[in-house]
Amino acid sequence: MRKQVNIATAFGLNEQTVLYHGSCVDMLKTIPNKSIQLIVTSPPYNIGKEYEKKTKLSNYIEKQSQIIKECERVLTESGSICWQVGNFVEDGSIIPLDIALYPVFADLNLVMRNRIIWHFEHGLHCSRRLSGRYETIIWFTRKTKEYVFHLDPVRVPQKYPAKKYFKGPKAGQYSCNPLGKNPGDLWIVPNVKSNHVEKTEHPCQYPVELIERLVLSMTNEGDWVLDPFAGTGTSIIAAILHNRRGAGAETEKKYIKLAKNRIVKTINGTLKTRPMNKPVYDPKESGNKLIAVPWQNAEDNKAVQLTLFEKTSV
Ligand SMILES: C[S@@+](CC[C@H](N)C(=O)[O-])C[C@H]1O[C@@H](n2cnc3c(N)ncnc32)[C@H](O)[C@@H]1O
Repeated sequence: MRKQVNIATAFGLNEQTVLYHGSCVDMLKTIPNKSIQLIVTSPPYNIGKEYEKKTKLSNYIEKQSQIIKECERVLTESGSICWQVGNFVEDGSIIPLDIALYPVFADLNLVMRNRIIWHFEHGLHCSRRLSGRYETIIWFTRKTKEYVFHLDPVRVPQKYPAKKYFKGPKAGQYSCNPLGKNPGDLWIVPNVKSNHVEKTEHPCQYPVELIERLVLSMTNEGDWVLDPFAGTGTSIIAAILHNRRGAGAETEKKYIKLAKNRIVKTINGTLKTRPMNKPVYDPKESGNKLIAVPWQNAEDNKAVQLTLFEKTSV
């Protein structure tokens, strides 16, 4: 049954879902102080994508710092800011944006809790440097021990769940947490390219599962999750999936349309997303025939494949 979907177009604390068509600079002005539990976003990287105008790095950092300052104002005492970024590239020289932006957060007295490496396998093929296969999420909170962080909902399966203590008072008991282990700060999550179930016409979507982990660990049910650069609404979708309130701003009409469409499907339970913690596709284990090298004979091919895919037992 289709549910009544109400997507507000302006921020209000009594709303559940907000999609603001316009600049986040204007939307942020309408949000009360200390009201947002999680601000999570992937801003433009200043690399000349269709939705941005490339400018001097110093101008870009200055504009970002104005927005980050406003984000800090609306952040609750126990809240988190997660900025997901890659590299700014100029004349073949890369400048990691997390490094360039770190001082902005530090100057606001925010504390970095993790620098999460998001590793994926697909992207541009570089010929004059190694192809970039990771981006980062820098996570900040206020200077407090009381920031919200729930580990249990984001635990991942243990490697050796049957391992037991072999000596001491706990000898014979299972040594690992039965709820799973801490997922660590290196996350292997497929990026949204053409075969991904979440792919839309937006050139730079992040996957819902990446944001679900942040929502589950850094917020409680009913809390606000805000994405100042909402794109196709991924952060709002991750919030709705876990009974949080979601808000975002987006300047481009065509992405607003996409975001609205995806949010409605999420509320109706029909949006297809890649499940959190689903193992990454392994062509060998899946018996994919494309892993055979077509220009070699059967015997040589076997040898090459062994070299490429043999798994060691250690
Ligand atoms: C990297 S994309 C974010 C994509 C998003 N994470 C998703 O999964 O769809 C950045 C987005 O910010 C939007 N944007 C650029 N400047 C903006 C501004 N001042 N306020 C709001 N949105 C802006 C762009 O149109 C673009 O869609």
